[in-house]
Amino acid sequence: MKEHLISAHEIRLPNEFSIDNACLTYRNINLLELVKKHGTPLKFTFLPSITHKIKIMKDYFKLAFDVNNYKGKYQYYYCTKSSHFNHVLRTVLSADVGIEISSACDTDLISSLVKTGDLPPDTQIICNGYKTEEYLTGIFKLIRDKQCTILPIVDSKSELERYIEYSKTLTNMSVGIRLNMSYISSYARESRFGLLPEDILYHYNTGIVGNDNLKLTTLHFFNDKGIENTDSYWTTLAEVVRFYCYLKRINPDLTTLDIGGGMPFKDNLDHNLHISELIFRMVAIIKDICTLEEVDEPDIITEFGKYTVAESTGTLFKILERKKGNEQDWAIIDGSFITHLPDTWAIKQNYPVLPINNLENDLIPYTLGGITCDSADFFPNNADTKAIMLPDTHDEQFVAFFHTGAYQEALSGFGGINHCLIPAAKHIIIDENALKEIVVSTFSERQSSKNMLEILGYQ
Ligand SMILES: Cc1ncc(COP(=O)(O)O)c(C=O)c1O
Repeated sequence: MKEHLISAHEIRLPNEFSIDNACLTYRNINLLELVKKHGTPLKFTFLPSITHKIKIMKDYFKLAFDVNNYKGKYQYYYCTKSSHFNHVLRTVLSADVGIEISSACDTDLISSLVKTGDLPPDTQIICNGYKTEEYLTGIFKLIRDKQCTILPIVDSKSELERYIEYSKTLTNMSVGIRLNMSYISSYARESRFGLLPEDILYHYNTGIVGNDNLKLTTLHFFNDKGIENTDSYWTTLAEVVRFYCYLKRINPDLTTLDIGGGMPFKDNLDHNLHISELIFRMVAIIKDICTLEEVDEPDIITEFGKYTVAESTGTLFKILERKKGNEQDWAIIDGSFITHLPDTWAIKQNYPVLPINNLENDLIPYTLGGITCDSADFFPNNADTKAIMLPDTHDEQFVAFFHTGAYQEALSGFGGINHCLIPAAKHIIIDENALKEIVVSTFSERQSSKNMLEILGYQ
């Protein structure tokens, strides 16, 4: 074991972390005090991180536009599916963004924000995803209510037919179309989303051209592997932009390219993502192709989910026990990866993990185990991630997973029934007031056994 020893001072910590009195602080918040006060497992969401990330992204685009002499505009959209919580949506909306939604219930979420006055008038709403009858009803209601600007993104032929029909009773409806990317050789996979180029052209020519009430303004695509600095991503983007130019020549109403989500977040502490370089290259490619094709460069929309919210949240556990193993030692957390951080189990997602206290001790490697009976309930569980380093001590120990703010509650089902009836963690919100002082409030207490039994039909 000895050869694995490191000291806490050898961990390279990003600026938002420091070690104070052998305890970890995050943005000057003493995490040991937090867990002592609120208990574990505990989720905290630091709201200012969200607006900060949005601002940085807007700045990156502005710089890339200026340097490339790019004429289009940039609009940041937040995709609700990465975190639907009201405190997240209200924070996001304070940063002048549009919202991307993906289901019928999402339209009710928008109506609710309108009712409470949290949705600024004329906020742009993009409606993505498959449109069920219920979803279409919600979209048409939002259009009629005129409280925000609605842009449905057509995912199928039958959906487009509904808008063509609806446009007979309405003026000035705009839609986008999602491009099915299966035809692009560098994309190399089959996709069920959107329409192939020939179908887009056919439907444009038969249903949209000459229809004064219906405009196709936006081409949408989503690279499901995310935005990454790889030849395959850049080649795929270039193909999409070429099709945009082709469509633009036929359809002058086309003004916008929606490049979807997929901007990465920091899933380990060493990660230097070079996001400004990704944005710069993206803008340069779009500009160059449009110049060659003699087409006005499009306005650009992004729908960043995990980029916006992942880094706002941390999930804190107590170590219940350490156990000797054959090849590795185990530390058992007072929660479950399957319940509290399901992406670690489902897609082998990595997160930055740090011990919270006892940092005067040397650190030794452990695999963390959850308290369910499930042999898959452990972390790390992928070859890229090294063991978790914990202080070599018998004292009470806490550990923090950072950047856990995207998708985890939506996937595990916040407040529902989870594996082995492990309850949802207590969740607190951390914000700053006008004087930049930290304000902590409780969003939800730890889920009760009573709540679970009620859901399951027990009295
Ligand atoms: C259409 C669309 N837009 C945006 C997103 C957000 O992706 P991310 O959280 O990777 O930014 C998704 C995620 O599935 C999506 O399907």
